[in-house]
Amino acid sequence: MAIEIVATGRYLPTRRVTNDDLAKTIDTNDEWIRSHTGIGSRHYAEPEQATSDLAYEAAMNALENFAPGKAAETALTLDLVIVATSSPDYYGFPAVACIVQDRLGATNAGAFDVSAACTGFVYALDAAAGMLAFGNRKRALVIGSDVLSKITNWDDRGTCVLFGDAAGAAIIERTDAPSTGAGKRGLIHSVLHAQGSGAQELKCERGGTRNPYKDGETLEKATHLYMNGRAVYNFAVKAFTDVMQELLDLEGITMERVKKIIPHQANERIVQAAAKRFGLPEDKFFMNIEKYANTSAATIPVALDEYAHTGDLKKGDIIMTVGFGGGLTYGGNLIVW
Ligand code: UT7
Repeated sequence: MAIEIVATGRYLPTRRVTNDDLAKTIDTNDEWIRSHTGIGSRHYAEPEQATSDLAYEAAMNALENFAPGKAAETALTLDLVIVATSSPDYYGFPAVACIVQDRLGATNAGAFDVSAACTGFVYALDAAAGMLAFGNRKRALVIGSDVLSKITNWDDRGTCVLFGDAAGAAIIERTDAPSTGAGKRGLIHSVLHAQGSGAQELKCERGGTRNPYKDGETLEKATHLYMNGRAVYNFAVKAFTDVMQELLDLEGITMERVKKIIPHQANERIVQAAAKRFGLPEDKFFMNIEKYANTSAATIPVALDEYAHTGDLKKGDIIMTVGFGGGLTYGGNLIVW
């Protein structure tokens, strides 16, 4: 029995905003953003688009890629819809996954959200795989979707230029392929970690039960995203390389056996630091931060879908995902395609 990714999909909102566009209203410039992060542009959701709208489009794209013209039929075969997000349509509930489940007509699926910020897809993929390994479940839809532009503090130039909106999706399935030995397929290892001592470094301060809204207060900025960039950067570089090494050790292989690393992309320099530490060429990592910026839980599934469509990824290739983000959380997956 193996847990295999059988289709992927993505959705980027149509509105594309370059660094120069941002510099018209924010005290920033293309040179700073590119040299400090590698970001050139990002996509933003329209005012009427919420996280579930992006998630739905990415899911439809994955369903179409799985069986063209049969999205509705395939949706009925789903046992689970899981959405990783930190910018849900509604605070607390209903889950984004329930809204997506309804729009897809996936009436046989259970649905819930995973809150692990930018590591969300890594966590959700492993949760789905574990749930498919038991009971009668066979097929799951795992989505990473975030619309951070709606919780961005536009007065904080240190964070507002970093993020974009997107969604990515994967359909995973329990198959008869072997999961050990020669010819093994699918998700073979995951590592999931948290360093909750860093919870305050990346957060939305107000609106939850710790600091609820109060009548008459104007709280907009306090409900927006706060990040201690330097602290998160330092955490990320170590977390990133630790996860890479841990996944290699679990499988007992060296990096030569890994075809591509699909990283969370918060800052190109974090990936460059990891490449340097492992002595790897930068093209070992599939990068798209220049086009999309940091799309939080969507980054890894969007990059995975783009990479899968390059034609470079062949059956039997080993790939690795590596994520890190709010929580603080970090982790990765090792997958035989
Ligand atoms: O996905 C979630 C995980 N997130 C991350 O992993 C993000 C990790 N952190 C980072 O990537 C980096 O810390 C940042 C990109 C957020 C910041 O880069 P930095 O090199 O640490 O910059 P800094 O915050 O130390 O700021 C350096 C300078 C400051 O000016 P002074 O005080 O040296 O005069 C800032 O005011 O750059 C200035 N600055 C900007 N200048 C132009 C900060 N933001 C901007 C901006 N445009 N957008």
